[in-house]
Amino acid sequence: MTSLRWACLAAVLLLALVCATASAGQTRRFLHITDIHWDKFYVVGTSVTDLCHSHGGRRTLVAADDQAGTFGARGCDSPYPLVTAALQFARSLGPLDFVVWTGDNARHNRDKAFLPTSQDEILYENTQVTQWMQQSFPSLTLVPSIGNNDVYPHDSLGPGPNAILSNLTANWRQWLSPASQQTMSQGGYFATQFNTETKSCSHNKYPGAQQFAWLDQTLSAIRQSGQKAYLTGHVPPHKDYYFDSCLAAYETITANYADIIVGHLFGHKHSDHLYVLKNQAGAILVAPSVLPQYNPSLRVIEYDSSSYEIMNVITYWANLDAANAQGSLTFKKEYDMVSAYGLSAPLDTAQWLDMKQKTDNDPAMAKLYGFYKYVSSGMTKATHIPGHPNC
Ligand SMILES: *[C@@H]1O[C@H](CO)[C@@H](O)[C@H](O)[C@H]1NC(C)=O
Repeated sequence: MTSLRWACLAAVLLLALVCATASAGQTRRFLHITDIHWDKFYVVGTSVTDLCHSHGGRRTLVAADDQAGTFGARGCDSPYPLVTAALQFARSLGPLDFVVWTGDNARHNRDKAFLPTSQDEILYENTQVTQWMQQSFPSLTLVPSIGNNDVYPHDSLGPGPNAILSNLTANWRQWLSPASQQTMSQGGYFATQFNTETKSCSHNKYPGAQQFAWLDQTLSAIRQSGQKAYLTGHVPPHKDYYFDSCLAAYETITANYADIIVGHLFGHKHSDHLYVLKNQAGAILVAPSVLPQYNPSLRVIEYDSSSYEIMNVITYWANLDAANAQGSLTFKKEYDMVSAYGLSAPLDTAQWLDMKQKTDNDPAMAKLYGFYKYVSSGMTKATHIPGHPNC
């Protein structure tokens, strides 16, 4: 339920629009990075059973490999060397136009010895990660989203203006227009305590419904000005996470603006997914995480600078076990969607439907999709982070 309750809030708060302007007809690139989950309490050599935290020197190593490695451990949040290695690699990729950064910068809230996670700590982790992001991409516009682990208490957000929204708005001020700063910091209609009785999108007084009204107006203005939009956010619009009425609103509005929406970019799952919307009017690209629930990853999206359509999606990964064994972590290309699935650019809705069709029906493609879903880890099903039912 936690994720369900969060879901509508995510729809409410986290849709960011990127209207890039660039010269005509070149293939250009932006970065999509998500779910960094930096943990300032991570201690190398502690036990995964202890969530890679030092519990006063106590260690509950249950197996030789149950150990917090330099670059992370499956079941723990991310240590600093992993975060810097990922950002260093992203910088080495060469020219990027902007960065889509879809939330969950703070660690998960699940170590009883370190509970309650304070609001201050979450803001501190967010402030630190913001600084590292800013230092890594000093001349780029970053398009951030709030993740469900970036608020306190986790998965819920009280009415704004409040300390969290003010702090995040101040952190991100440099990338937000005055109008965006206003909607971000005020919270206002989209920041309220969520509960399943009242907070769907089924009534126009609910924050979700009001946010969709905002989305509708915003997309209308974008269409009028002849621009295109990417919708970005943390929790993907999907029936596992969104209230039915919120998902229906998302599908209806985005179908109405399918001519100007060139991408739906989300995170949260820590694994790699393509979700076709039920009305087949678009597809949600869920990027895998920096956090190594499977392996660390990030992705570059190539787009056409005139039509803004996505030309290719290139995912990079690092082998966590090798990195911890060798003491150095190297990212390399995992795959690109055009060649892996035999697609042709631009990757419009017809291409996403083609990819979905192939990965559902062609055994070899289904296998490939399954392999990339878990970031080349060889795992074949979703693992759960201990103590936390979802992402
Ligand atoms: C946000 O909160 C953190 C933690 O209290 C603090 O270190 C940081 O300076 C704050 N940022 C802003 C912009 O107020």
